[in-house]
Amino acid sequence: MLKGKTVVLGVCGGIAAYKAVEVVSRLVKCGAAVHVIMTAAAAQFVTPLTFREISGQPVYTTMWEEPKLWNVEHIALARRADLFVIAPATANMIGKIANGIADDFLSTTVMATTAPVLIVPAMNTEMYLSAATQTNLKILADRGFHLMKPESGPLACGTAGIGRLPEPAAIVGQVAAHFAIAKSLQGVRLLVTAGGTREAIDPVRYIGNRSSGKMGYAIAAVAAERGAEVTLISGPVALAAPSGVTRISVESALEMRDAVLAAFPTVDIVIKAAAVADYRPEVVADQKIKKQSASMTIDLIKNPDILAELGSSKSGQFLVGFAAETQELAKNATEKLCRKNLDMLVANDVTQAGAGFESETNIVKVFYQDGFSEQLPQMSKRELAAVLLDRVQQQRSKIDRN
Ligand SMILES: Cc1cc2nc3c(=O)[nH]c(=O)nc-3n(C[C@H](O)[C@H](O)[C@H](O)COP(=O)(O)O)c2cc1C
Repeated sequence: MLKGKTVVLGVCGGIAAYKAVEVVSRLVKCGAAVHVIMTAAAAQFVTPLTFREISGQPVYTTMWEEPKLWNVEHIALARRADLFVIAPATANMIGKIANGIADDFLSTTVMATTAPVLIVPAMNTEMYLSAATQTNLKILADRGFHLMKPESGPLACGTAGIGRLPEPAAIVGQVAAHFAIAKSLQGVRLLVTAGGTREAIDPVRYIGNRSSGKMGYAIAAVAAERGAEVTLISGPVALAAPSGVTRISVESALEMRDAVLAAFPTVDIVIKAAAVADYRPEVVADQKIKKQSASMTIDLIKNPDILAELGSSKSGQFLVGFAAETQELAKNATEKLCRKNLDMLVANDVTQAGAGFESETNIVKVFYQDGFSEQLPQMSKRELAAVLLDRVQQQRSKIDRN
């Protein structure tokens, strides 16, 4: 799995720095080329010589010595990495990366890389649980950094709790897992819809909903990282398009329908995470409606059901719907899955804390065409995106096998 891969390993100044030596040793044995960058504090714990001998490569500790490569060193290493791992990552380094500080070789190289970055924190429990570290980790997770949770157990400071560096074998396992899924959607064309639609009442007013678009954007981002060719059809949201994703911006349900139907014949997977309005005003006023009588009535007409249209006309596409429910989740989800001819339905009870529209996390139950369902625990929308794509890939390979 790691043959021919280049891993850049950043080692920070924590007592667990010695475990990074075994990480390097195991990665090298698995066939990876490993380039180690040490912070000045890390070099207080383990000598650069140890890493040089184990990796068989020069070790980088400062930006100010004669270049070991022809190019500006930190940029050359940043470009070379297939994966960047920081283990152990100190509270200090996590804070620097989250806040854009690039004042040493490691923090500068991380900022310059476009490779995926896996951060493995290790520190005293209180440092790990501090508001600063947790906020910084959340910033990094939202930006697409991969995080490995520290383990609980006895710590070097004499206490016990969360904060231990995971065992080297587990870190290497995570690296291998990363490469296993990294290009697993290469050559697959994926259409994701996200955000809510706006149904115009007049030139300045609309009927909308609370969808933030975060779930669909997370799916688009993770799918692109796995190598898929992603088209993201998005209602108006306050999110930047994930890198490597083609975004088509729409406003109303009818515009969403046109864009989705145009893209549908050329894709392999459709994930409809957008919250499309069921109804729209029958008449859209040309001019801003003036305040007049004590009450007013807007007549609404039904919008087309895009998901049902896709379900009835699909020819080999794997179709995933989302359902936001406030009652009888299982019954409504199963009925929707059958009626709309979906392959998978992701249902969430939006009345639950930690689930749904404006939340950073989601709690969903996934329903499959074969009648099975699976309750997933609360997780960040990015983590959920990865799990849902795993499930889509598993289901598609089942279909291919049959
Ligand atoms: C004995 C000792 C052990 C330390 N262990 C840790 C640790 O496990 N995690 C951590 O975040 N900081 C730890 N620190 C503090 C860091 O070394 C310190 O914040 C340093 O500035 C980190 O620099 P760096 O992020 O550039 O490596 C330790 C310090 C000492 C003296």
